[in-house]
Amino acid sequence: MKKILLSLMLIVSAIAINAKTLVIYYSYTNNVHNIVTDLTKQIEADVVRIEPAEKGLDYAANNYAIGSSLISAIRNNPDDASSYPAIDPVNVNLDDYDCIIIGAPLWWSNMAAPLQTYLFHNGASMAGKNIGLIVSSASSGISGVESDAKRLIPDGDFLSPSLWIRSSQTSNASSMIETWLKSLGFDMMTGMEDMETDHNIGKHTIFSVSGAIVAKDALSFQNLEKGLYIINGKKIYKK
Ligand SMILES: Cc1cc2nc3c(=O)[nH]c(=O)nc-3n(C[C@H](O)[C@H](O)[C@H](O)COP(=O)(O)O)c2cc1C
Repeated sequence: MKKILLSLMLIVSAIAINAKTLVIYYSYTNNVHNIVTDLTKQIEADVVRIEPAEKGLDYAANNYAIGSSLISAIRNNPDDASSYPAIDPVNVNLDDYDCIIIGAPLWWSNMAAPLQTYLFHNGASMAGKNIGLIVSSASSGISGVESDAKRLIPDGDFLSPSLWIRSSQTSNASSMIETWLKSLGFDMMTGMEDMETDHNIGKHTIFSVSGAIVAKDALSFQNLEKGLYIINGKKIYKK
């Protein structure tokens, strides 16, 4: 019996640890950078910052002329790779992650162009993953950025709502992020924190996210298909 419980614990722990999160962001004036710094104090995540290949551009000069023309090019031809500004190579294996949080500055009501470049080339590889979106703007509403994210990651499982942090609220980002993560049930989704201490190993009933009982005998957990499961009505796990 002891042996069975031990192997069960290993199986469940392995699944919880698998729920890895990646934060991908771009930031020109560091508001999103500061938001991401606050975010990663609250969750376990790997972080990637997108950098434009062309250095030293002042996207805000002349009433945001360069930023504006980059966005226009994408709006005019969103399916053409040449509409997107080049970015530095990004070394990350998306297969390693179940959840991806995107940190995006808003440019002319759209997602900042360099971040769109990354998603244009990699969004298809995010199919079936949980996608969270955090947007920073001076004042404009974020629905255009949400549409960009959905266009570029057509098969992502978007977490709702997105988090909108105005630039003037950046210093208050930490508490906004905390509230947002709670509203998403993020700790339930990743289930990493208290996995090893609070679960009752002897009484696992596994439910689908819609509440149907999938298995009463937790030993069959390893045979489940990929998907989201609730254990003991407490935590959600992704296999
Ligand atoms: C090219 C460009 C265009 C922008 N367009 C808008 C806009 O239409 N509406 C708005 O509220 N803010 C706009 N902003 C402001 C940014 O969204 C805001 O400053 C944001 O916090 C920047 O994030 P970052 O510091 O991470 O780059 C624009 C900024 C740039 C550089």
